[in-house]
Amino acid sequence: MNRILVINGPNLNMLGLREPAIYGKRDYQSLVEMISNHAEKLNLQVEIFQSNHEGEIVDRIQQAYNKTAGIIINPAAYTHTSIAILDALKAVNLPTVEVHLSDIKDREEFRHFSFVSLYAEKTICGKGFDGYIEAMDYLSAKFA
Ligand code: DQA
Repeated sequence: MNRILVINGPNLNMLGLREPAIYGKRDYQSLVEMISNHAEKLNLQVEIFQSNHEGEIVDRIQQAYNKTAGIIINPAAYTHTSIAILDALKAVNLPTVEVHLSDIKDREEFRHFSFVSLYAEKTICGKGFDGYIEAMDYLSAKFA
């Protein structure tokens, strides 16, 4: 199985408009296109899901059980608050890479801690859109 699920949390649908000095000027659609194009190159099937709601993200993670080989997740603000997302990732027990566009360790103190990092086998921060490419390459190499 070479299917991966990419999950983006709250406000990432606002990319391009949202704090461009931190998150860049490219919009969410261009992130989706970049991920889809790279998946094709790697011969991965990819589903890209975005939600502003914690429970929907938990539901989507649960649905991945037995249907997905790996998860790439940018939980956005839920990174720093959500035990429910951490528990869902632990429950489905799939290889997971955490991605952040910005370097959360270099920002406000409340962003320094990540619940998801307690489970993710790799965390990529501060590389902008390229962080998703690195995460896909990592999972793809794992499945090879
Ligand atoms: C983010 C960092 C989070 O602290 C923030 O709440 C986000 C985006 C990032 O991609 O850099 O929404 O996950």
